[in-house]
Amino acid sequence: MAHASDLIATDIEAYLETHQHKSLLRFITCGSVDDGKSTLIGRLLYESHLVFEDHLATLAADSAKVGTQGGDLDFALLLDGLSAEREQGITIDVAYRFFSTERRKFIVADTPGHEQYTRNMVTGASTADVAIILVDARKGVLTQTRRHSFLVSLLGIRRVVVAVNKMDLVDWSPDIFDAIRTEYLDFAARIGLDDVTFIPLSALKGDNVIDQGPHLHWYHGPTLMGFLETVTVDDDTATLPFRMPVQWVNRPNLDFRGFSGRIVGGAVRPGDPIRVLPSGTTSTVARIVTMDGDLDEAVAGQSVTLTLTDEIDASRGDLICAGDAPAEVADQFEAHVVWMHEDAMLPGRPYLMKIGTRTVGVTIGHPKYRVDVNNLDHLAATSLELNEIGVCNLSLDRAIPFDAYAQNRDTGGFVVIDKQTQNTVGAGLLHFALRRSHNIHWQDVQVDKAARTRLNDHRPGVVWFTGLSGSGKSTIANIVESKLHAAGVRTYLLDGDNVRHGLNRDLGFTDTDRVENIRRIAEVAGLMVDAGLVVLTAFISPFRAERRLARDRMDDGEFIEVHVDTPLELAEERDPKGLYAKARAGQLTNFTGIDSPYEPPEHPEIRIDTTALSAEQAADLVIDALRARRLVD
Ligand code: ADX
Repeated sequence: MAHASDLIATDIEAYLETHQHKSLLRFITCGSVDDGKSTLIGRLLYESHLVFEDHLATLAADSAKVGTQGGDLDFALLLDGLSAEREQGITIDVAYRFFSTERRKFIVADTPGHEQYTRNMVTGASTADVAIILVDARKGVLTQTRRHSFLVSLLGIRRVVVAVNKMDLVDWSPDIFDAIRTEYLDFAARIGLDDVTFIPLSALKGDNVIDQGPHLHWYHGPTLMGFLETVTVDDDTATLPFRMPVQWVNRPNLDFRGFSGRIVGGAVRPGDPIRVLPSGTTSTVARIVTMDGDLDEAVAGQSVTLTLTDEIDASRGDLICAGDAPAEVADQFEAHVVWMHEDAMLPGRPYLMKIGTRTVGVTIGHPKYRVDVNNLDHLAATSLELNEIGVCNLSLDRAIPFDAYAQNRDTGGFVVIDKQTQNTVGAGLLHFALRRSHNIHWQDVQVDKAARTRLNDHRPGVVWFTGLSGSGKSTIANIVESKLHAAGVRTYLLDGDNVRHGLNRDLGFTDTDRVENIRRIAEVAGLMVDAGLVVLTAFISPFRAERRLARDRMDDGEFIEVHVDTPLELAEERDPKGLYAKARAGQLTNFTGIDSPYEPPEHPEIRIDTTALSAEQAADLVIDALRARRLVD
């Protein structure tokens, strides 16, 4: 066995050249830390010819001329993908190992087995042909076994091996093996896994890993390696309708314009009619260009550049589809969502969604239910916590082309990214577009914002006050409104305490409820701005993400964020409503500044230091700023 760290890129190239003809199997291993996973992988690798450890990924990707056909291309792309994620600072704890035997090449995504590492498993699983689920013979089928199996099934991996490990510690007992088999089969049937192979083994002693060994004479099936080497990989992506997400537009000179990307479904030939989504433009494939010359045909898995017979507009993120079987386009969906972060999913919060090469804004609705992975019950839920799996509606900020995940993993699978931290916080599978996504249209109106603004002597906008409870938001906003009103400006003040008596009286102070509180206020304020008013809002609005949502809801220059910056100690000392005292006494939970966070604005248009200014002076400062921005004269 050669070790990859001793190799340089040219060796890798030479290696891939020699092993070109072998088929490639991608698999994942799932199990807890103590199930013996690393021992097992260690044994599999020890018997193989060559191993690339994943820390080589960047090196190999740099010299990514590594093989350009079939499976090796996947490998190069896999490495590419990894290094791209690294550049973005996303740490995904999956060790990819590439190895081969006489008969086959393998990529194994080895994912850490701690409960909180569902994220890594989902990342590793999204391209796998086979999942090995490790079960400790002494412990049998655990919650985690069920969760992993459920995810494997959701992710569309159809072949599962249940490796019943540590048989040496149960005296190689066929009864124990059978009991595990029976229990697992019952669960597997309920989650739609019908291709399950059970292998008793001992990763430590070696029995049934590569060779049968001396202890398991009662078992007549394949060894684990025997199974992996011979299992058929029916890659049906080639039979799907043609799909290629545009990765970049290749335009080296005025005479050449090509669309580059990796084909994620079907095949394409020159002369094929295509449709570019979401625009819907149609054309015909002229040439399939690669570094090794033009092709007569390209299939799923290959990276190519397509030129078209018409000069059409397409850019990164667009999807080129078979003209007679295009994907759907929609902006609202039902989806399975797997949450992968310690900070719970907050319905209504704006996140980013990455699907294929396209990134769009998304908000996730209240879960319709979440799944108890032990008994598959549907449970009520207001959000999704780490590792939880639920079904939710999604609402995107623009329409995207997609297929149901069940049809195509690449055009139907997505990840959710936190806007502030850029962390991957969730993943999901699209089920279908909501019908309302097609049936609700924008109605054209005759009288618009500009027309309404002409009747006023001022432009519309929002003055968004944010700060701790007791910081002085309402007091200052009141004075500002009085002054504006006196100057003939049409205003409306939305105040937290008041709105919570009416429109938002169904909301409390959990993170989820605060997100919804501000989402509604942003929406109402947006409508009022459209009506031509200067709106003042006085809400704690503790989270940056929702203040950003409010800002994005308005046109440029219409949103003025005012941070009423009063230190916690001072707000608590004032305590106008006696709420801080209650919170300290433990009679009020989730109180901002005490046991619920406040995220101060990073770049507010106006910051008011209430330790230095009176409320009257603060109001004048705001009015001056509105004049400077020509919102009012
Ligand atoms: S926000 O966080 O969702 O923006 P909002 O401004 O609507 O809060 O309401 C805050 C007001 O509700 C406070 O000024 C206070 O009077 C009252 N309140 C009651 N409970 C809480 C709490 N747990 N945290 C903060 N404010 C609370």
